[in-house]
Amino acid sequence: MTPPNPFHFGSPAAAPYFCDRDEEVAGIVARMSAGIHVFVLGPRRFGKSSIVLRAAQAFRKGGGAVGYADLIRCTSELEVATEMLNAVVNGVLSGSRRAARRVEDVLEHLRVAPTVSIDLSGTVTFGFDPAIAQRSWNVVFDDALSLLETAGKRGPTALALDEFQRVADVGKSGMGGAFKAAADRLTHCSLVLAGSHASVMEKLTRAKGAPLYGMGELFSVGAIEKETMLTYLVGRARAAKKQLSTATAAHVYERAGGVPNDVQWLAFSAFAEAAGKSEISTDDVEAAMATIVRRQASSFAERFESLAVSQQRVLKELSVRPTKSPFAKAFLDQIGVANVNSVRVALRVLSDLELVVRREGTWEVASPFFKDWLAGG
Ligand SMILES: Nc1ncnc2c1ncn2[C@@H]1O[C@H](COP(=O)(O)OP(=O)(O)O)[C@@H](O)[C@H]1O
Ligand SMILES: [Mg+2]
Repeated sequence: MTPPNPFHFGSPAAAPYFCDRDEEVAGIVARMSAGIHVFVLGPRRFGKSSIVLRAAQAFRKGGGAVGYADLIRCTSELEVATEMLNAVVNGVLSGSRRAARRVEDVLEHLRVAPTVSIDLSGTVTFGFDPAIAQRSWNVVFDDALSLLETAGKRGPTALALDEFQRVADVGKSGMGGAFKAAADRLTHCSLVLAGSHASVMEKLTRAKGAPLYGMGELFSVGAIEKETMLTYLVGRARAAKKQLSTATAAHVYERAGGVPNDVQWLAFSAFAEAAGKSEISTDDVEAAMATIVRRQASSFAERFESLAVSQQRVLKELSVRPTKSPFAKAFLDQIGVANVNSVRVALRVLSDLELVVRREGTWEVASPFFKDWLAGG
């Protein structure tokens, strides 16, 4: 039997796929234990969720109670409040009691009547009729916080909210204010708020006058250190009975721009290309790169077409010539745009969409695969 692919991408990485991040994980667990709020900030695909889930697991092992909610699909305050409530019920209050018993306890405390379902694994899902509850979302929110604060008085408690940048967009003016009040109120419980989209998180947390300014400690998630990632890649390949030299692993890392998700994606695909061989070669990595770009081509085309022409030009130029000076005349001439301001606007839009990033002062296309596609495949 051939060993399964030893690499993983696309969703949070847990053991045995998880590497490094000891410092971040230990730091977050320590804050959770002390009831201190934290922000985990970084671009998409760098490993924020993996870190948060790993920290939650360690915290739970040490006797803590922690819930986890992913807010990515939330479009209203009520949906955010409902996700939080469900995370509290399933993560914080789960303990040893049976689901039905837990539901009874919680129902006593809820002031808006929910629908309830319990699946075979015992996961409880509360729901609220939007027609009735849309305007009383703050009551649901408040009830979730009360349950959390009560749990916090019994022992170390935390609630992790992933894709937290969503709260800036829901409702009329976002939920920044509501979360500021929540943070002040939760004196016995740590909120772990993870989010991407630097500009949105900035607006929520860092800019002067931001609603959550100074409320918690910031953890910035960057790339995994190269040496560590190479050792990991070589070791994983070996565990699946395939040779991967450090030099070839470095090629994977470079081609994927050091972004953890993309490094793993390329390694996964190169491992597949090397089926039937004893070693993953540089050619396999290049073939893998081409395969990924080809498979993604239609979604790249869709994304490209959804952009304005000036944005498309900036993107295409950055794919072949990353630059430190996108406002210099040379760059403007190259893309045939006459004024600096339209480049400024295009870069802002492209950054917000996480299509371009500025790494160490250089503007470049964020995804190595999209970059290859833009440059002509
Ligand atoms: N600590 C890690 N070790 C190995 N791979 C990781 C790690 N963190 C992230 N990755 C890679 O990145 C992918 C995305 O991770 P995820 O935590 O979902 O990122 P984010 O939440 O920042 O978007 C994972 O599937 C994995 O391929
Ligand atoms: Mg995530």
